[in-house]
Amino acid sequence: MTTTRLTIIRPDDWHVHLRDEAMLQMALPWTARTFGRAIVMPNLDPPVTTAAQAAAYRDRIRRVLPDGSRFEPLMTCFLTDETGPEDIARGFAERVLTAVKMYPARSTTNSAAGVTDFRRVYRVLERMQAVGMPLLIHGEVADQETDVFDREKAFIDRVLVRLRADFPALRIVLEHITTAEAVDYVQDAAGPIGATITAHHLMINRNAMFAGGIRPHMYCLPVAKRESHRLALRKAAISGDPRFFLGTDSAPHLIQDKESACGCAGIFTAPLALELYAQVFEEERALDRLAAFASLNGARFYGLPPNTEAVTLVQSPWQPPELLPVGEADQVRVFCPEGKARWRLLEPAD
Ligand code: NCD
Ligand code: ZN
Repeated sequence: MTTTRLTIIRPDDWHVHLRDEAMLQMALPWTARTFGRAIVMPNLDPPVTTAAQAAAYRDRIRRVLPDGSRFEPLMTCFLTDETGPEDIARGFAERVLTAVKMYPARSTTNSAAGVTDFRRVYRVLERMQAVGMPLLIHGEVADQETDVFDREKAFIDRVLVRLRADFPALRIVLEHITTAEAVDYVQDAAGPIGATITAHHLMINRNAMFAGGIRPHMYCLPVAKRESHRLALRKAAISGDPRFFLGTDSAPHLIQDKESACGCAGIFTAPLALELYAQVFEEERALDRLAAFASLNGARFYGLPPNTEAVTLVQSPWQPPELLPVGEADQVRVFCPEGKARWRLLEPAD
């Protein structure tokens, strides 16, 4: 019998870009409609680098939340060569900060202030390890000599192995993994490491960027890889292995910033992310494991209880909005590779 209706504990998004100002106003209601909590990325311009800045950003997010929403933003700050161990440890103790985000310098959108050399942040990492604060890693080397499709594997081999040997008890999330090598590494690693997987990396391979012409809305970082990697990610996501959990990496950019001679990296999935994950799990005949991936594994990694509410998805094809307005004059494009979504999240009024 095919499942046409599925109720699971309300999921969380363990990696999302909510942005600020008009973009925040557009993006936040979509995330808050589905997810109970989300790990909010700090790569604003300029980035959120201190606990005080994270607290101020959290206030701005709360002010934009729809009335009655119980959505909880979990804040991060951006690790730089200058980050102070005291500031982030205090932010963690005071529950302003949930984690620290590490971008290798210039690896992705607004990451110029990222870490230039790991040895410069060793004091911060020592402190994080001591207090149990998670480090969230954009796992790509940023050097121009390394092929763009090899940057995740190169990061694991050249940086992550060494980092984990030096900090075996540091809680690490390898964010938005895109390769079979990352799946294998996380699966086989001893110690506290997990990985998030996006909906889009479960749905598209790198061909999607070149289907009939250059497709800027299929471009994100880490860039989608070849089909064998997509299949490995699917296997990991549906495995039930508690190390793998949902992180959309929903990352809106204005249309004109995507459709440009130098288009930004980022795919905006927030309006239908859970629906897309449900489709993937259905295709893999693994709907019974969606709750583990979406609602349980991440909370467990972060030492948080699962959400107490439930959400219901029904199999009922619908047409998500293709474009959404941002402010008075701008728009973003919503990722939906098949034009329609097969699953729909029931709204409280349904
Ligand atoms: C993200 C963004 O736009 O902020 N882009 C992306 O392609 N994922 C940055 C990031 O998470 O790398
Ligand atoms: Zn991201």
